[in-house]
Formats: sequence, structure tokens, C-alpha cells
Amino acid sequence: MDFAKFDQRHYPTVPVREGYGEWARTYEDTVLDLMDLRLLGRLRSVEWPRAANAIDLACGTGRIGVWLRKSGVTNLHGVDFTQAMLEGARGKGVYQRLTLADITATGLGGGSCDLATMVLADEHLADLRPVYREAARLLAPGRRFVLVGYHPFFLMMVGMPTHFDRAPGEPVAIESHVHLTSDHVAAGLGAGLRLAEMVEGLVDDDWIAAKPKWAAQRDRPVSFAMVWAKDQAAASVSTSRA
Ligand SMILES: C[S@@+](CC[C@H](N)C(=O)[O-])C[C@H]1O[C@@H](n2cnc3c(N)ncnc32)[C@H](O)[C@@H]1O
Repeated sequence: MDFAKFDQRHYPTVPVREGYGEWARTYEDTVLDLMDLRLLGRLRSVEWPRAANAIDLACGTGRIGVWLRKSGVTNLHGVDFTQAMLEGARGKGVYQRLTLADITATGLGGGSCDLATMVLADEHLADLRPVYREAARLLAPGRRFVLVGYHPFFLMMVGMPTHFDRAPGEPVAIESHVHLTSDHVAAGLGAGLRLAEMVEGLVDDDWIAAKPKWAAQRDRPVSFAMVWAKDQAAASVSTSRA
């Protein structure tokens, strides 16, 4: 769904690559680890140190790569289509390899990754199906695809798109879409993956301490993480809330 239906901010909107090209320099000053790293830390179905060979789709400036390396992942390949974001990742020194490519069609060889991650990028894809198919193609059998995104409830209720300040008081939105949880489930199952785990993060004291204006959003879901498995086993789903 196009985000415009839910937009309550009406900022000028730019295409994804253009937006991140401009935002790259200050991106890490804005994004809070509460959104994604805290959820990654709650996942129980991923043995991070077992992932010798991981691919970080939409790696951006490498925040997730730093977390993955600290969590025991040894060999990391980052993919992103915004050069300036990829340069940030290069500066982190945690990726063995970086590729400038579209995550929906990386052009990389398939079947060999122990782990694929994609964090805070699904809202920029008009259609989820190609990236799920690409992640499934890249993974070795028995391995996991971990996806973290803004919660669709949050995007719909709060009506705030992914945005940055071009200059003080000059907010710019980056082209966004809203995907229901059922869109993710359909895309993942359609790619032959099995949903192994899902967790949701709510606006809590930590969030309100960081963003006092969000007190009105207390207890509402703000982000989610899903773990998809590439195997032939029957589906079994566990869910939990913060
Ligand atoms: C919000 S940032 C997330 C970066 C990083 N994963 C993190 O959590 O900090 C979104 C990233 O997705 C990338 N991106 C969005 N759509 C993409 C696509 N189709 N192919 C490759 N990269 C994409 C952007 O260039 C940007 O670096």
C-alpha cells in the first residue's frame, strides 16, 4: 500500500536512493537502536555465532554489521544500492565484502549464505515478494533470514514516514510503503520459507525517555522482527510481545 493514504506529515518526498544519498552523513545520529538492535537481541531461534557466512541486505552505514560481528558472525557481506550509505559501512571495517546492488536482484551466487538479514528497508519496497525470493535464493538449506521493520500499525496510526532533516526545520520524507503482517507472511511462504519466530517492540519507558513526544504512543507497536527458515519442515510459529 502506498504510504500517502496514511501520511499525516505531508513532507516533500524523494526517491529512495536520492534520500539516503543525502541522509547518509547524518543517518546514524537519527536512528535509535531501540528500533532494531533491541529486537535482534530478543530473538531465540538464531544462533548468531553459527553464521560464518552472512549477507546483510540493505546494510546502509553498517549499524547491523557491527552488531552481527559483536554477536559472533565472522564473515559479512553487505549489499545496498546507495553509494554514500555503503561508504559508511566501508568505514566501519566489519564487512569482508560490500556490493552496490539492488537487494531484490543482487546478481550474487545463490545457496551459500548461513544467514541473511534485512533491517529497516522493507518500507521502501513497493512489493515484498522479490526480496523474500532473493533472500531464499541466497540462503543455504536450513539457514535463516532475519527481517526487522517498522511496524505497520505504527506507520498507519502515527502517519509518519521515514524522514530526515535536510536542514534544521526542513524535513524530507523518503518514498515509503506500508506492508501488512499478512503481506510478509504471504511473501515469505511464497518464497518457500517457514516462519520460525516473530517478536514485536512496543513504545515503552526507554522509547519515551529518548522521544518524550511519543508518550501518546505508549504501548503501541513500533517495530517487529521475523525469523524465516529455509527448510522443508512443517511451519511452527512462536510470537511474543515486549
Ligand atoms: C533505513 S536504512 C537501513 C540501513 C541499515 N540496515 C540499518 O538498519 O541501519 C535503509 C537502507 O535500505 C537501502 N535500500 C532501500 N531499498 C533498497 C533496494 N531496493 N536495494 C538496495 N538497497 C536498498 C537504502 O539505500 C538504505 O541504505
